[in-house]
Amino acid sequence: MSTELSSNKPVKVTTQTVVDMKEAGEKISMLTAYDFTMAKLIDNAGIDIILVGDSASNVIAGFETTLPMTLDHMIYHTSCVVRGVDRALVVADLPFMSYQVTTKEALISAGRMMKEAGAHAVKMEGGKPIVETIKRIVDAGIPVMGHLGLTPQSIYKFGTYKVRAKEEEEAEQLLTDAKLLQDAGCFSIVLEKIPSKLAIEVSQMLDIPTIGIGAGSGCDGQVLVSHDMLGLNKDFSPRFLRRYADLHSEIITAVGNYVHDVKSGDFPNDKEQYN
Ligand code: KIV
Repeated sequence: MSTELSSNKPVKVTTQTVVDMKEAGEKISMLTAYDFTMAKLIDNAGIDIILVGDSASNVIAGFETTLPMTLDHMIYHTSCVVRGVDRALVVADLPFMSYQVTTKEALISAGRMMKEAGAHAVKMEGGKPIVETIKRIVDAGIPVMGHLGLTPQSIYKFGTYKVRAKEEEEAEQLLTDAKLLQDAGCFSIVLEKIPSKLAIEVSQMLDIPTIGIGAGSGCDGQVLVSHDMLGLNKDFSPRFLRRYADLHSEIITAVGNYVHDVKSGDFPNDKEQYN
């Protein structure tokens, strides 16, 4: 019997798998994770791609923007995630200023993410200005996922988190950028917070898959921040977010019950201690 048949290990999702999924008309599921336990849960539940997003800055570190995240922070989170994953493709965000200064620095950052963290691919925000850098990284054998539309690392340039590319000129630029990213060798592109009609146009124009967040149902896949879709962030309710659980309430109730049981002496009981 071949090792492939006797092995119980799941077939790993690769960058080629997600390109093939688009070709086959199968939607791609992607969620964020930043630690071993959550990554293991999400992987076991059958997700296709796990994104170690620099949204860790918001939901893990408590910063207002993604800008403070360093390459070392992202390498740490990514290495934790990689250890929890058997099947999913693990894509790691390159953080702000780890790839924008020079191509050489970008290549070193991407290389560290692959070598030290064990990422399977990196994600980078932006279009034309980073195309040559992306080519160089892809040429070095590192798969790159692009990210267009609302790119949170540029929040101080935009000034708001509102929907992008509503006007003709920005929409045209986005279409051009998407084609440039595909030609540069990106295996997929995140489209964040853009009008659904534009997302359809981009998705139909490209051979590589688009993964949308707030970009409508015409994308080839969808991504959400796991903390948001699991209802851990009670205060974040954008229109595009669907909550699949209310872990905020569950945790508050569970912790409240624990506090009560400790204070009343109900915990631990006879069976919960050693004789
Ligand atoms: O950092 C992140 O979580 C992201 C997703 C919102 C796409 O980039």
